[in-house]
Amino acid sequence: MAEVIVLETAEDAGAFVAAHIAAAVRTDPEFTLGVATGSTPLPVYEALRAEAEAGTDFTRMAAFALDEYVGLPAGHPESYRSVVDREVTVPLGLDPGRVHVPDGSLDGIATAGERYEEALRAHGGVDLQLLGIGRTGHLGFNEPGSSFGSLTRVKTLTERTREDNARFFDSLDQVPVHCVTQGLGTILRARHLVLLAFGESKAEALAAAVEGPVSASMPGSAIQLHPRVTVVVDPGAASQLQFADYYRWAQDNKPEWQGI
Ligand code: PGA
Repeated sequence: MAEVIVLETAEDAGAFVAAHIAAAVRTDPEFTLGVATGSTPLPVYEALRAEAEAGTDFTRMAAFALDEYVGLPAGHPESYRSVVDREVTVPLGLDPGRVHVPDGSLDGIATAGERYEEALRAHGGVDLQLLGIGRTGHLGFNEPGSSFGSLTRVKTLTERTREDNARFFDSLDQVPVHCVTQGLGTILRARHLVLLAFGESKAEALAAAVEGPVSASMPGSAIQLHPRVTVVVDPGAASQLQFADYYRWAQDNKPEWQGI
């Protein structure tokens, strides 16, 4: 079962996860972080910048993004390449050659998935994968119906996801319809999954992912198949968890040596 940690605020959650990543990077400077985009991981990135200012050297860390929109012009500020550069690569001083984002350009689209899988394989995979969850239950952009064995490939976004992401664009029309996303099978290969969710709007999907039946109709439930998962949420996102009392009890009685 996933370890579920309920913290008071998204900022607390960001600081908690960033402290864990920073400690891992101090032990292994070539640590590989799987980065997510959207609003959810931003508190982690902010706290990682604070860890860098406090002296942790992230410059040899590698990063792999979960997904990318198809067809945005190079350099578009909402392309996930740009977001990762802005939030992670530049402020933490990563070597851009060690930061990987799926290729969403129309030219290379036929081979984008295969090339990304090869890059992940050649690199040796991801140590810790940050994940958000969409209201549809998606992980990365694996919308309901995605196979648990799926690899990086082109997917069509649901209308709900396009509407949810329209806030980053001037209008809904500008939100791409397609994306290249790591598959659920790709995500499950990461050595540690850290799923974050904040706010009541995520409560239903989060409860279904953590406690509901394992089903391709709820892509988030794929985390139940992974041996090492940490779910870090605020009280709003935790509000529909059936076993919330138990998670709090386990947290309160957690042995010092256990880590996450
Ligand atoms: P959000 O998106 O963090 O912007 O809510 C999460 C997701 O869609 O995976």
